[in-house]
Amino acid sequence: MNNVSRRNFLRQSSVFAAGLPLAGGLVLSPFPRAAAASEKVRVALIGSGAMGRGDLATFFLNPEVDCPVVCDVDDKQLAEAVKLVKEKRDATPDTVKDFRRVLERKDVDAVVVATPDHWHALPTVLACQAGKDVYVEKPLALTIAEGRAMIEAAQRHNRVCQMGAQRLSSPTYAQAVDFVKTGKLGKVGLVRAWAYLDWIRPIGSPADGPVPPGVDYDMWLGPAPDRPFNSNRFHFNFRWFWDYAGGLMTDWGVHLIQVLLWAMGPEPPKSVMSSGGKYVLEDNSETPDTQITVYEFPTYTLVWEHKVGVGLGLYNRPWGMSFTGTEGTLVINDSGWEILREPTKDALEPKKYPGGADPRPAHVRNFLDCIKSRQQPIENLGVGHHVSTVAHLGNIALRTGHKVNWDTQAERVIADPKADALVSVSYRKPWQLPYLSPGR
Ligand SMILES: NC(=O)c1ccc[n+]([C@@H]2O[C@H](COP(=O)([O-])OP(=O)(O)OC[C@H]3O[C@@H](n4cnc5c(N)ncnc54)[C@H](O)[C@@H]3O)[C@@H](O)[C@H]2O)c1
Repeated sequence: MNNVSRRNFLRQSSVFAAGLPLAGGLVLSPFPRAAAASEKVRVALIGSGAMGRGDLATFFLNPEVDCPVVCDVDDKQLAEAVKLVKEKRDATPDTVKDFRRVLERKDVDAVVVATPDHWHALPTVLACQAGKDVYVEKPLALTIAEGRAMIEAAQRHNRVCQMGAQRLSSPTYAQAVDFVKTGKLGKVGLVRAWAYLDWIRPIGSPADGPVPPGVDYDMWLGPAPDRPFNSNRFHFNFRWFWDYAGGLMTDWGVHLIQVLLWAMGPEPPKSVMSSGGKYVLEDNSETPDTQITVYEFPTYTLVWEHKVGVGLGLYNRPWGMSFTGTEGTLVINDSGWEILREPTKDALEPKKYPGGADPRPAHVRNFLDCIKSRQQPIENLGVGHHVSTVAHLGNIALRTGHKVNWDTQAERVIADPKADALVSVSYRKPWQLPYLSPGR
């Protein structure tokens, strides 16, 4: 990568943008400029499933947060969200099934988008257009091109947006990342992240069936291809179907690869290879239960691994991340981190450090602070897009069986139309995503 394209990449990915003020321009928000810390923030929830309710409960840890309206396409999920708001705020929120009704409201400052991945981009873009700030769950979107359109929307409308991969807000992870950056591990040429998840079970192969009462299924599908209702392709298990998500490569990959990239810097990968399949799960899910992805970065190799049905992962941890240097290896997950010395070296002192608290409250607090200060949050869309792109490239390599060479400046797969087609997605009519780059 030459200097100009490298500079452009840094600008585009905003990997270092935390703390920068937003550019001037159209501002519709009730928070056009810095506001007092105590000022109310009225948050609407879009997608009130397990994670959406978890996010909302975390927002409620902050006394200035109210929730005037919750949105879901399923009455049952809406009822659960109403229960939560009543419990935490002693108030009954309005309920709607069409998120566009949320965006029209003047009593909403920010939205939490916790829908399935195929429904992250459009609500985020339209929320930005409507002058709302956005906390959007990970991965940033279903595809790379959608992520770029989301960045464009946030920039054009001066919005504060945070992606919800919370470990970036963990002081414990920050300490470990700082240690890697000291260089004490020596030259780090190999970093790995793995998720061996023994709790994932086969989900069977139910026949297509009637849409459950109280569900607006057409709105659940949204921009995804039309098809009959299947109970597996719905709440939670949507993760295992390509129309809506990317399996564990993106679901867990974004969380764990985020930590690796945080320590290793913002350079993009040059190429990606991936191999895997469904070897264990006998059900109608589509994404691989076993996958290994190898990324070639300019100065190191990154390896992603996932495996379901077993829990014996690397370094005796079911999931985690490791940084292997010439002097030793740092291994980390939520239960703590440790430094392992190379058997033939003595520069490093082997040591163990405990895990820290759940970083989600700090991640949400950072978003709320930025809404008021109009600074960029720690996992702004540039940061979220960078890690999500890395994860998506793994699936593009897997699905094509090709080694993918990535042009980060153009955000295109080099000389491979089949792989490049998977960078974008075609929306089912009448849905359209504004701000897609030309040719996407
Ligand atoms: N940050 C984390 O640690 C973490 C953990 C779990 C899940 N997630 C992310 O959160 C998102 C949701 O995951 P989940 O497990 O809660 O899924 P879920 O299926 O339990 O919930 C999604 C909800 O969105 C609703 N929905 C679908 N289309 C909608 C629309 N057009 N408008 C409004 N609501 C709509 C569904 O009816 C459902 O209630 C995913 O993107 C996932 O990757 C993040």
